[in-house]
Amino acid sequence: MESQYISSMLALLFAAFLSLSSATSPQENFLRCLSFSSNLSSPIARVVYTPNNASYSSILESRVRNLRFWTPNTPKPLVIVTPLVTSHIQATIRCSRKHGLQLRIRSGGHDYEGLSYVSQVPFVVIDLINFRSVDVDVENRVAWVQSGAILGELYYKIAEKSKSLAFPGGICHTVGIGGFLTGGGYGLLFRKYGLGADNVIDAQLIDVNGRILDRQSMGEDVFWAIRGGGGGSFGILLSWKVKLVPIPPTVTIFAVRRTLEQNAIKLIHKWQYIAPRMPHEMYFDVSLNQVNSTQDGKKTVVSYFIAFFLGGIDELVPLMHERFPELGITKKDCIETSWIESIIYLGRIRNQPLEILLDRDFQTPLTPPSFKSKSDYVKEPIPEIGLEGLWTRFSEKEAESGVIYFFSYGGKMDEIPESSTPFPHRAGNLYKIIYNVGWQPQENINSDKYISWIRRTYSYMTPYVSKFPREAYINYRDLDIGTNSEGNITSYARASVWGRKYFRNNFDRLVLAKTMIDPENFFRHEQSIPPLCKKHGH
Ligand SMILES: Cc1cc2nc3c(=O)[nH]c(=O)nc-3n(C[C@H](O)[C@H](O)[C@H](O)COP(=O)(O)OP(=O)(O)OC[C@H]3O[C@@H](n4cnc5c(N)ncnc54)[C@H](O)[C@@H]3O)c2cc1C
Ligand SMILES: *[C@@H]1O[C@H](CO)[C@@H](O)[C@H](O)[C@H]1NC(C)=O
Ligand SMILES: *[C@@H]1O[C@H](CO)[C@@H](O)[C@H](O)[C@H]1NC(C)=O
Ligand SMILES: *[C@@H]1O[C@H](CO)[C@@H](O)[C@H](O)[C@H]1NC(C)=O
Ligand SMILES: *[C@@H]1O[C@H](CO)[C@@H](O)[C@H](O)[C@H]1NC(C)=O
Repeated sequence: MESQYISSMLALLFAAFLSLSSATSPQENFLRCLSFSSNLSSPIARVVYTPNNASYSSILESRVRNLRFWTPNTPKPLVIVTPLVTSHIQATIRCSRKHGLQLRIRSGGHDYEGLSYVSQVPFVVIDLINFRSVDVDVENRVAWVQSGAILGELYYKIAEKSKSLAFPGGICHTVGIGGFLTGGGYGLLFRKYGLGADNVIDAQLIDVNGRILDRQSMGEDVFWAIRGGGGGSFGILLSWKVKLVPIPPTVTIFAVRRTLEQNAIKLIHKWQYIAPRMPHEMYFDVSLNQVNSTQDGKKTVVSYFIAFFLGGIDELVPLMHERFPELGITKKDCIETSWIESIIYLGRIRNQPLEILLDRDFQTPLTPPSFKSKSDYVKEPIPEIGLEGLWTRFSEKEAESGVIYFFSYGGKMDEIPESSTPFPHRAGNLYKIIYNVGWQPQENINSDKYISWIRRTYSYMTPYVSKFPREAYINYRDLDIGTNSEGNITSYARASVWGRKYFRNNFDRLVLAKTMIDPENFFRHEQSIPPLCKKHGH
């Protein structure tokens, strides 16, 4: 009798509690759900931040890498979770699902459109700052690296153990592993060894049901999709097993400036024919930006030719004389260094100790604080007259901190089949373009004029770049090319517009992989891969 009484009292209390909770906000329900799933040995409350916590703002801002999305009007997350153990991630997924909150996943926070920390609907951010271990195995030439590590941490830990191994990642060392590898990821070594994602051999994924899957248990379709199909679509990538690649002790770099008077346009024109055919050992880009003329202070445009070569000066200088004598590269233009030092040198952080690579708060001088970017692929050389038009655009006022880079393709990129990973821009591409325009955060209110400049420039380039589709690089995310947002068109039809630009025909296989791993479309954002048939009308 006694126990029956107690249990009915409990039921009553529980009902009262339920009615209480249904009257509260999704945020409170979510927090309560988290506290229920707390693990005594690792309580989740220590890693849960709401706007009431003093450090909420600093945690949020610390990985906002584009201050275009750090304004009073930018939507902020209801809650930020910085998990310490996988059970925290599983609880965050479970409770966000249960209470209808969208989840945004953040590793390094470099998403060009801020999708890892901004959403137009109520949302929670899971920030993987505490998932950043790097475990280098020199003997087997592999490493396990967690998604919240930055490229610099991986480079540093490799260099600590070996001077003859490296990982093919980007120059900017603060980029997060999670976003870099889910989007492909290129850098100084990509013409020799392919993309970062081409060198992934296993991974750990937490799916929508909280299962921890590896390559074998997720299956080859999903394993294919996470290596270049874009972040935030398939689940939360916890860690990656990557191949390390051999590098010589000495590498050579040059960075030379050429003005209009020094025939910059003719040189860039020629570069288009030469750079993609250079040996695999070479990385070669050219950029344009506006400067004040040293003579009269008027605006003018200069170009920089930057190369990185796996070998010494004695090999590089004759190669340049043979293939590209017009550029006039001499020994004096070149410096010999090591692979790891070249990251510091080309990242424009010279004279700093290697430990700078571990500094995730470092503000790279490579990108202005607030910016907008777009990308293109080029399959036929652009005629000189086309390049001249770019010059005109770069002389405009809004281009003050604009920069355009041409990154030479070819080499190993030509040898990897288009369907080998979701990243489709392989043989047939001479180079990739990135357009970038920046401004100071206090100019955020005037961002429209800069953004309209970059859109005009992009539109000007239409005749010269890839068509049907006009291709783009997922890791240079650009919401101008389309989003999944509602309307009366299904999100699949909308998604295939931007999807084919990023993935060409690989888009269809990505949709199949998404349908397998997340059929109800829990992991989603403006440019996430849609499942084939939605069971629920999110
Ligand atoms: C200054 C700068 C330099 C760059 N240089 C290069 C370069 O040299 N080469 C290159 O290829 N790219 C470069 N990029 C682009 C960069 O690769 C992408 O922006 C990349 O997505 C950033 O990864 P992140 O983890 O820092 O970003 P985040 O903003 O944290 O994430 C990017 C996207 O991936 C999702 N995501 C993040 N982590 C996970 C995870 N663990 N699981 C599932 N989804 C996840 C996010 O939700 C978001 O949609 C650069 C960007 C910047 C700003
Ligand atoms: C609780 O956390 C510990 C690590 O702190 C982990 O090993 C354990 O699996 C977790 N337990 C549950 C039930 O999630
Ligand atoms: C945030 O505040 C709540 C409520 O006071 C507290 O329980 C939680 O531990 C705080 N979070 C952190 C990370 O300190
Ligand atoms: C060019 O000059 C203008 C004003 O004369 C100045 O504001 C700007 O910072 C200069 N730009 C560079 C790149 O030096
Ligand atoms: C919805 O469809 C109708 C008819 O097909 C069209 O006229 C209308 O513009 C569409 N609305 C939106 C928001 O796309």
